[in-house]
Amino acid sequence: MNLPLLAVKTGAALSRLLHTVADAPVPPEMRVLLTLNRAYEAEVLIALVRLGIPGALADGALTPPDLAERIDADGAALLRLLRVAESIGAVRHDAAGRYRLTAMGDALRDTETGGVAPFVRYSHATSTRRAWTRLTEAVASGLPQFEAANGSTSWQWFADHPDEEKNFAATMRAVCDYNGPALAAAYPWRARSTVCDVGGGVGTLLSHVLARDPSLRGELVDQAGPIAESADFLAARGLTGRVHATVGDFFTPLTVSADVFLLKDVLHDWDDDRATTILRSVRAAMQAGGRLVLFEVLQNPERAHPLVPLVDLTMLVHTDGGRQRTVAEFDGLFAAAGLRRVSVREGQVHSLIEAAAA
Ligand SMILES: C[S@@+](CC[C@H](N)C(=O)[O-])C[C@H]1O[C@@H](n2cnc3c(N)ncnc32)[C@H](O)[C@@H]1O
Repeated sequence: MNLPLLAVKTGAALSRLLHTVADAPVPPEMRVLLTLNRAYEAEVLIALVRLGIPGALADGALTPPDLAERIDADGAALLRLLRVAESIGAVRHDAAGRYRLTAMGDALRDTETGGVAPFVRYSHATSTRRAWTRLTEAVASGLPQFEAANGSTSWQWFADHPDEEKNFAATMRAVCDYNGPALAAAYPWRARSTVCDVGGGVGTLLSHVLARDPSLRGELVDQAGPIAESADFLAARGLTGRVHATVGDFFTPLTVSADVFLLKDVLHDWDDDRATTILRSVRAAMQAGGRLVLFEVLQNPERAHPLVPLVDLTMLVHTDGGRQRTVAEFDGLFAAAGLRRVSVREGQVHSLIEAAAA
């Protein structure tokens, strides 16, 4: 569909292939140990972000003692961390013993659009980790485990923990900013139409869609947390006045009217019954000739994808019955909600499915 996403898919596939080739002569027991070590390498990335090291090294290389003073850490322990960070490829040291960021380390910096740092913090969140510890139980029972691990469903958890909700919204925003321009370019928006993003977070995808044509207007529907943050976000993108934001529950009929409704990475959070309810809410709000545009990461059992199975497993662990679906499975949901598929545009990561009233 586009270059950055092609790069993601190709890069992930290439990395997997190179690992497979490089691992071939490694004894199987050692491969198990190396795979387990990746969990600890992830801890190193998390520590880099939590200690503020990418930001501290942004202006140039520092020796471990200088860096330790800058970030208020123990110099000797910091050096031990940096050595592993170097083996992962996040930093590099020079002959004078000063450490600088590599391109990968630079990507960990907090940037205006968020970068991957919020994702790293999300990976560190206790609720995220607790849910993953129940993968075995999830597979044994086939049942969602976030609530069993944390005492409430993921969206209730975010409602009760606004800091985590904010960081999750920043994570989604960063991911969406990365592929938003390409997704927005994948659909022929009709001039002067109104586009409503349902469960659209702070309006990230909408900002990319509206950037394509100044005659487009936006409606944004989400929960109270993201909607509260959306005013500043939309103002920063020069969209105040072009987007109307509403706190709404997509399990009840939507009260907004629009020519095109978007659902990006929303249905994959829910089981079939609730995904159908969301689709019915949208269907009820659609006018004659209206369209639904889904952006989802599709399962394709015929074709191995380097990322989709892991995204799907994440849904098993983290959501209340969510998963990545095939086109045929979406067709089933559409039929139950009074919709029919009009077109599919397969992408490198996200695909676009357009639907209309049946
Ligand atoms: C996985 S995020 C996707 C966000 C955005 N579409 C994107 O791709 O960046 C799911 C979104 O659904 C919203 N959401 C969850 N439950 C909701 C509900 N009952 N009504 C409306 N929005 C809801 C969340 O707040 C969140 O913004």
